[in-house]
Amino acid sequence: MGNVWWSCVAVILLEQALLASSKLARPPLPVLPIPTAAQLKWQRREIIMFFHFGMNTFTNSEWGTGHESPSLFNPTNLDANQWVASAADIGVSLVILTAKHHDGFCLWPSAYTDHTVEKSPWKGGKGDVVRELVDAANARGLDVGLYLSPWDRHESSYGQDLEYNEFYMAQLQELLTSRYGGISEIWFDGAKGANATNMTYYFHDWFSMVKELQSYINIFSDAGPDVRWVGDESGFDGSYLNTGDARGADWVPPECDVSIRTGWFWHKSQTPKSLSQLLDIYYKSVGRNCVLLLNVPPNSTGLLSEIDIKRLKEFHSAIYTIFSKDLAKGSNVKASSQRGGSGGGFLAENVLNDGELSYWAPKENDTACWIEMKLSDDGVRFNVIRIQEPIWMGQRIQRHTVYADGKVVVQGTTVGHKRLHRLGKRIQAQTVRVQIIESRNVPLLSSVGLHFDPFAAS
Ligand SMILES: *[C@@H]1O[C@H](CO)[C@@H](O)[C@H](O)[C@H]1NC(C)=O
Ligand SMILES: *[C@@H]1O[C@H](CO)[C@@H](O)[C@H](O)[C@H]1NC(C)=O
Ligand SMILES: *[C@@H]1O[C@H](CO)[C@@H](O)[C@H](O)[C@H]1NC(C)=O
Ligand SMILES: *[C@@H]1O[C@H](CO)[C@@H](O)[C@H](O)[C@H]1NC(C)=O
Repeated sequence: MGNVWWSCVAVILLEQALLASSKLARPPLPVLPIPTAAQLKWQRREIIMFFHFGMNTFTNSEWGTGHESPSLFNPTNLDANQWVASAADIGVSLVILTAKHHDGFCLWPSAYTDHTVEKSPWKGGKGDVVRELVDAANARGLDVGLYLSPWDRHESSYGQDLEYNEFYMAQLQELLTSRYGGISEIWFDGAKGANATNMTYYFHDWFSMVKELQSYINIFSDAGPDVRWVGDESGFDGSYLNTGDARGADWVPPECDVSIRTGWFWHKSQTPKSLSQLLDIYYKSVGRNCVLLLNVPPNSTGLLSEIDIKRLKEFHSAIYTIFSKDLAKGSNVKASSQRGGSGGGFLAENVLNDGELSYWAPKENDTACWIEMKLSDDGVRFNVIRIQEPIWMGQRIQRHTVYADGKVVVQGTTVGHKRLHRLGKRIQAQTVRVQIIESRNVPLLSSVGLHFDPFAAS
């Protein structure tokens, strides 16, 4: 009898112990600001694509005057499916089209000007490039963005504030109401005519209307509000228009726009950048927590050129070669501490899982925190270190150092969605430690990886 009683107590106690240990530690509070759902989706795209196409494609220029005859616009075999397929083939999920560039020629039949495809010989004036891109993208499940140049060198009201802003907003409404469905990004630049320095763009009205018409859109401009210009057109987040502002109240991530060729528009004489240039751009944009907006200009036939498509494929396959194999996978990870202990759910080995929902978090009072990966006894050879924060919980890390077998390999600052350290040399090591030196509130790590880049100079 006594024995039975005691074993019942033991079972109850055991159950209680199991219940207690299955209780997760609460996640820490986010550190504000945090991205909106649309910004988060945008950030995870990493590479998006721009198609600069329009009157300039036919006049061999970058900035048209606005006086070109619409009769010049005549792509003989335009096929937006080919553009979109080339983007989809390299994993791109958002493509942006120049609906109107500075010369004012509209790729859709705008009802507010005569300077459009409707007056061109293409498809007997019945064509609509915006429609063709949207349909091609929808068919493959890609999202669409549009660039509508505020500077318009054709429109006669340009320079008269009220009249021109009315005209511009009428065109915005044509593009963003239901006609073309959901638009994921709208691209504004601040360019103005030399003769129109007095021209005021009613950004506040534009932004308000854009947000009203499209709930899931990101607005790109020099200063945001959703995505900001990185400050040049080389594809780098360099010293900056934009190192960002650590004390800023808004989440405004940078987008690095760069053309695969010298120019934004297609020119017969130009050729694509080399693979090594593109990889360098990748490390300095995506690898510095930016989204890379890569422009690939359709030619005057209305197709992407074969040499550009070939280079895109090489670029994609190089990224796959480098990042599809994570040399840290299967290593033993330990940390200076884990929030809630070993049952808390914020384990060090979470950094080896894919996905941003699981992450490592140290204890609140662990001010000198680190994680360390014990690799194989023979050591592992790598030259790229990948570090990622779960940015949906806010960007936290301000300074970090990576050690290999106790020696400093690289010292870095912020991390964000993705920080890639491409090392100048190959490292062979048995242990790699990421030490967080400074952070806003407790740092969190969603992923740490080691990679081998055979394209890097050794
Ligand atoms: C500016 O105005 C001058 C004088 O009217 C004209 O010659 C010139 O072409 C204009 N420049 C531009 C960029 O519109
Ligand atoms: C710009 O505004 C100033 C002051 O109102 C005026 O004197 C000047 O003529 C304007 N310039 C143009 C190009 O409209
Ligand atoms: C445009 O690219 C296609 C290949 O995709 C090619 O067949 C065509 O000749 C090119 N057009 C011009 C004008 O180079
Ligand atoms: C952090 O707090 C825990 C529990 O309060 C304590 O056991 C531990 O020693 C502290 N660690 C540091 C590094 O102060």
